[in-house]
Amino acid sequence: MTGAIARQRLNPHWVDEKQMAIGDVSFVVTFDLDDLKSYDSSSKRFLLGKARPMVDAMVEIRDHEDIRTIVDLGIFKGGSVALYAKLFDPEKLVAIEILPDPVPALSEFIAREGLDARVKPYYGVSQADAARVEAILASEFRDQDVDLVVDDASHYYSETRASFNLIFPYLRPGGIYVVEDWGWAHWAGDTWQKSEAFPQFLPALSNLLVEVCMLCASRPDLISSVHVTASTFVIRKGDARPPRQVRSGRALSLSRALVQAGPLKARMAAIDAADSVGSSGLHTAALASHNGFRQAWRNGICSVSTTNPSVRCRARPQSLVFGPGDR
Ligand SMILES: C[S@@+](CC[C@H](N)C(=O)[O-])C[C@H]1O[C@@H](n2cnc3c(N)ncnc32)[C@H](O)[C@@H]1O
Repeated sequence: MTGAIARQRLNPHWVDEKQMAIGDVSFVVTFDLDDLKSYDSSSKRFLLGKARPMVDAMVEIRDHEDIRTIVDLGIFKGGSVALYAKLFDPEKLVAIEILPDPVPALSEFIAREGLDARVKPYYGVSQADAARVEAILASEFRDQDVDLVVDDASHYYSETRASFNLIFPYLRPGGIYVVEDWGWAHWAGDTWQKSEAFPQFLPALSNLLVEVCMLCASRPDLISSVHVTASTFVIRKGDARPPRQVRSGRALSLSRALVQAGPLKARMAAIDAADSVGSSGLHTAALASHNGFRQAWRNGICSVSTTNPSVRCRARPQSLVFGPGDR
């Protein structure tokens, strides 16, 4: 055990696939849409909007990594904040949620467990709001790196990419950045394909996964590995320390890093110009105008229709036998 705080190592106790407890706090673990709407959290029993493998993956990370500082995007009913507080016993856990009203169950949990100085929820903040997110990071992590980021917020490409550009520079070398639910544009079935939460016109979040994979190839000092499952992708940061403060223009944004990586330079030049962080903080140029990316998808993985950033790509596998389109 290291560090000033004596860190506990509590393990989840599973009652069944949807019910779990860590110490004296229990969790209903579900991403069923009806459950998400109907269940509420209390300070002793939280709704956790995840599936069990995601929780198991977090236990793996906890057991094999040195995680003291965490950024959690997307608070919802407080389940993930309570989970990470119990599981990691972190020195600092900062959570960001676009909805303005504090979650009473979470406030009560934080007060009861005496975590006010260590667990900091910020409500009414979009993950893509460069000014707000950067101010939070700068004040909460002035003298510290972030060890783990979990993005379970909008799941939209522009917003997720914007917060990646903002938060990744705060991650320590070797730190971990998890993006959950990246595959919604490709999951089989009407639940997700006809969901109002993911309108047809939105670009798929898988654009970001491919970008990150390209960066892993060309700048392994920034991204040393990307591990993908159907629900999440997990980025391990390389040894580089890109400058913080994206809005000051000093930071290395994702697309600028790709441009600087060389081979993509010509293809990415237009994006680099459009992707310089504007006042909104959004990187709306998107990958849709990236010819190399479009070609890669057409030739290798599936056909997509990303002719401009406002068109969402859908998996319609051509070169693969199995996939949602074949069912
Ligand atoms: C899937 S839920 C989070 C579930 C929670 N992490 C858990 O495991 O229980 C997504 C949350 O992200 C929030 N959200 C959506 N768009 C956002 C944005 N642009 N910035 C921050 N939060 C956002 C939603 O309001 C919602 O509460």
